[in-house]
Amino acid sequence: MAVIAVDIAGAPYDVRIGRGLLDDLGAECGARLRKRRVPIVTDANVHAIWGDRVAAALSRAGHEAVFRVLPAGEQTKSWQSLAETADWLLDEEVERGDHIIALGGGVIGDLTGFAAAILKRGCNFIQVPTTLLAQVDSSVGGKTAINTAAGKNLVGAFHQPALVLADLAALDTLPQRELRAGYAEVIKYGLIDDAPFFGWCEANGAALLAGDGDARAYAVAHSVAAKARIVAADEKELNGTRALLNLGHTFGHALEAQTGFSDRLLHGEAVALGMVLAARYSARRGMVDAAAARRVGAHVAAAGLPAALQGLGLNCNGAALVAHMLHDKKMDAGTLPFLLLAGIGRTVLVKDVDLADVAAFLDGELSA
Ligand code: NAD
Ligand code: GLY
Repeated sequence: MAVIAVDIAGAPYDVRIGRGLLDDLGAECGARLRKRRVPIVTDANVHAIWGDRVAAALSRAGHEAVFRVLPAGEQTKSWQSLAETADWLLDEEVERGDHIIALGGGVIGDLTGFAAAILKRGCNFIQVPTTLLAQVDSSVGGKTAINTAAGKNLVGAFHQPALVLADLAALDTLPQRELRAGYAEVIKYGLIDDAPFFGWCEANGAALLAGDGDARAYAVAHSVAAKARIVAADEKELNGTRALLNLGHTFGHALEAQTGFSDRLLHGEAVALGMVLAARYSARRGMVDAAAARRVGAHVAAAGLPAALQGLGLNCNGAALVAHMLHDKKMDAGTLPFLLLAGIGRTVLVKDVDLADVAAFLDGELSA
């Protein structure tokens, strides 16, 4: 069991990582569960696989699990699901001192966290992430949100969980494509500021994806420690530190928008390709040598993630992708800061990027 402290001023909490936490959920949550009935928000896939075991674990601790089961998928991060979930939590008479459990991937964590943030002006919640992406990224750091017609994650709040319980056993039932998509966020921590960890990924990524328990445990704990360090330094993305976590996201977000935020390209897949494009664009600007950019692309491809624009069937030009970028939350007084690479493990925020040059770069990538 690894326990990583997230040292947020006024709202510190632990991330506990190990196998079997779901089977011991009642004991792991301990006195945070004040009442017999425990409200759990989850999705249909997770409920079908893990619901009975979670209910049994809570029953052993003297509790009754009451589930709100939402449809699986990104469309659940909606106004409608938020309203229905909030109404359900009110029907359950959840009080501010109670803890709501978010059992699932990033979709459930983001939605439930936002519902907890606004219910009675702020209730406690516990993140129980069941995807690799949620374990290494979205369950930690307190970003919560829903999507609207105008775009992804545009309505939300910073609201830290009281506890994060990451059961590595949950990854055993995760579809391989989802596992790979989550692995993109693992690679990201190496590229941000940890070249040795990127080297570890190159050496151990295949074993992790194939099911090696030690590799998974190490990667999740190392990634969470990195995220905890970054969010403790900049909880609300104000001083440029937390912005580093957006590596790959500006290019990736444009690709997600172009593919309609659909299963054609999962979020983690878009981030993976976005990191390759950021590396290649950094090489075009002379910030990093071409060999380093090739190394990023080679590892992304080796992990079975998309590493080139060709083959995606995007049917658009570079200007269309740049147009999507203009809706990015990072837009600041008409300019868009980019996360680019000055080396493996050296991500920097660049504010003087010429979007016409980005469009020309993307035209080249699309026709390569
Ligand atoms: P997801 O929640 O949609 O889960 C992916 C799929 O895996 C779903 O079909 C789900 O039902 C299924 N699943 C989950 N756990 C399972 C398990 N153990 N076994 C079998 N199937 C399982 O997607 P995700 O990739 O976890 O999260 C993506 C979301 O996270 C996006 O909405 C993104 O915006 C958000 N996100 C948020 C942050 C943040 O800081 N808050 C960071 C990164 C991403
Ligand atoms: N996943 C980006 C962040 O948490 O800031």
